[in-house]
Amino acid sequence: MTMTTIKGVIFDLDGVIVSTDEFHYKAWKKLADRENIPFDKTINNRLRGVSRAESLEIILEKAKKEYTDSQKQEMLEFKNDIYKESLSELKRYDILDNFNELYEQLKENNIKMAIGSSSKNTKRILKQIELSDAFDAIADGTDITRSKPDPEVFLIAAKRLGLNPEECVVIEDAIAGIEAAKAGQMTAIAINDAKNCDKADYRIDNLLEIADIVIGGYNEE
Ligand code: BG6
Ligand code: MG
Repeated sequence: MTMTTIKGVIFDLDGVIVSTDEFHYKAWKKLADRENIPFDKTINNRLRGVSRAESLEIILEKAKKEYTDSQKQEMLEFKNDIYKESLSELKRYDILDNFNELYEQLKENNIKMAIGSSSKNTKRILKQIELSDAFDAIADGTDITRSKPDPEVFLIAAKRLGLNPEECVVIEDAIAGIEAAKAGQMTAIAINDAKNCDKADYRIDNLLEIADIVIGGYNEE
């Protein structure tokens, strides 16, 4: 049994801090319907944590025709335009339950906090929900060449926090995100769909449970 002191929490954004995962789903659904491609919430769960371009490739697995690169480009823009339109309605009160309370508890205990998101819209979202200056570091889709399950985004976040990966926990709603955290030697906390990932170290239903896990250290086999 070893004792690891956790000094930082790296938050995924979409589906953890704010329910933009629903906006992603609705925007992809509009594209899939336009193209007559079957698309449902089960397929959508595979898009969690995955880049926009890779998400499109997953959706196109069910397509009956081949698409050219320029058609794919048009589809990516179509989806992102719809998505950005819905982001314009986001407000501070759309922050998910208990995030604000968790944030205060982590701050009081000098735990550093970062965002580790595959989204290129991260800064736009943080601005909408008035959290632009809330984090000690941000690593997002504009920083990386490989999306989750590759650990790149979390390793960049940890580095920007000035911490070793082992000193960080990641909180994720995506199976790909849990895999990324573990590939990066971090502790992985799963919420929502990510609870289906057998690699998760902890499974929670409520963000406040993160405070129990992080503050005061934890025991690891
Ligand atoms: C992740 C989402 O946070 O960001 C994925 O879970 C999404 O569903 C990815 O595809 C990329 O987002 P964006 O905003 O760059 O299209
Ligand atoms: Mg997510």
